[in-house]
Amino acid sequence: MSKIAVYPGSFDPITNGHIDIINRSRCLFDKLIIAVVHNPNKEALFGVEERIDMIKAIIKGHKNIEIDSFSGLLIDYVRQKGAYVIIRGLRAISDFEYEFQMALMNRKLNEEVETVFMMPHEKYIYVSSRIIKEVFQLGGSISDLVPEIVERELKKKFSILK
Ligand code: PNS
Repeated sequence: MSKIAVYPGSFDPITNGHIDIINRSRCLFDKLIIAVVHNPNKEALFGVEERIDMIKAIIKGHKNIEIDSFSGLLIDYVRQKGAYVIIRGLRAISDFEYEFQMALMNRKLNEEVETVFMMPHEKYIYVSSRIIKEVFQLGGSISDLVPEIVERELKKKFSILK
C-alpha cells in the first residue's frame, strides 16, 4: 500500500519555510499532496489558482508531489485522496495551541488519520506568509525568505492594489 500524505495550508503565498517542510516530508512518503485550502470566508491576497500556479512553478520535476486545492473539511479531503497522514509544520511554541486543537479535532473526526508535525530549518522559524506580506508591503527585503517567483508576484499584486 502506498503511503500518501497531505500537506494542507493557505500558502498565501508559499514561503521558503513551506518549501523546507515539503522537501523534508516528500522523502518520507510515496506521494505528497500539497493541498491549498479554498476558504471563501477567509480573505486572501492571492486567489487559489494564483497560489497553485506559484507552487507548481516552484515544485516541478518531482513525480511524487501533487498540487491540488480543496474546500470543506480537511479530514474528508484526506480520505478522498486515500491518505492517512496530514503534515503540518511546527515553528514555535506559539503555533502549538492551534495545531494541537486542529490535530485532535481531526483525530476526533477520523481516528485513522494521523497528523505528523515537521520542524523547518531554524532559519525559517520566524517566517510566516502573514509576516512576509506585511514586511514586503512596507518595503522590507524578503528575498531570502521566499522564492523569486513569489517576490515577483507580490510586486505585481501590491502595485495593482496601490
Ligand atoms: O496555512 P493555514 O492557514 O494554517 O492552514 C489551515 C488549514 C487549511 C489546515 C485549516 O484551516 C483547515 O484544515 N481548513 C479546512 C477546514 C477544516 O477541516 N476545518 C477543521 C480543522 S480541525
